[in-house]
Amino acid sequence: MADSNVEIAPSILAANFASLGEEIRAVQQGGAAMLHVDVMDGHFVPNISIGVPVVASLRKATQLTLDAHLMIENPERYVEAFAEAGADMISVHQEATPHLDRVLTAIRELGREAGAVINPATPVAALSEVLGKTDYVLVMSVNPGFGGQAFLPGALEKIRQLKEMRARYNYSFRIEVDGGIGPENVVQAVRAGAEILVAGTSIFHTPDPGAAVEKMRHLAREALVQKV
Ligand code: DX5
Ligand code: ZN
Repeated sequence: MADSNVEIAPSILAANFASLGEEIRAVQQGGAAMLHVDVMDGHFVPNISIGVPVVASLRKATQLTLDAHLMIENPERYVEAFAEAGADMISVHQEATPHLDRVLTAIRELGREAGAVINPATPVAALSEVLGKTDYVLVMSVNPGFGGQAFLPGALEKIRQLKEMRARYNYSFRIEVDGGIGPENVVQAVRAGAEILVAGTSIFHTPDPGAAVEKMRHLAREALVQKV
């Protein structure tokens, strides 16, 4: 799995919610296979976004993989609801719970992919004890809470470290990166080892979101070819 493929995950946070169905069709046509859904509670992050009912509506409207990124306190209370609503992948922040091991295990027991997320200030080492029970690691390349922020390059070194640890210990998690991703840094992120690239502003704040996805997929493929 590692290195064989790179997915672009459009973050609907930047989409026009009044015409979400059309926006989703556009990115699907551009080759997106998944949608990134940012859930914010106004406590863990200083912003409020969307929750379980939106995931349930998306599930009825699309076959795309739904990647729920929970930027919420007490994520253990909500993972079941997101799984039932139809999220395929559910990620929780290391900083948001003292029981990361328990919540990752709970997500897997619900039959969903379990993701562990780290903020820019959190080192990869904070995940060392759970990497064997994590289906994907999400490296934040902005401080979570808002779309449209500038990419923090420190994420690249963390991606490289994760890739190295995965090889060393024979883990199988995928590596996802989120925040400030666009055509200008896709190649860097893929070369570092990212396999799922989340992008909001650089997709939905363009006149043609489908074309934006296509362009980033193309850049990602080129970067993979150059790596070999
Ligand atoms: C930030 C969110 C991101 C956000 C990315 O807290 O987790 O998923 O939507 O948006 P852009 O691509 O605009 O940085
Ligand atoms: Zn996100």
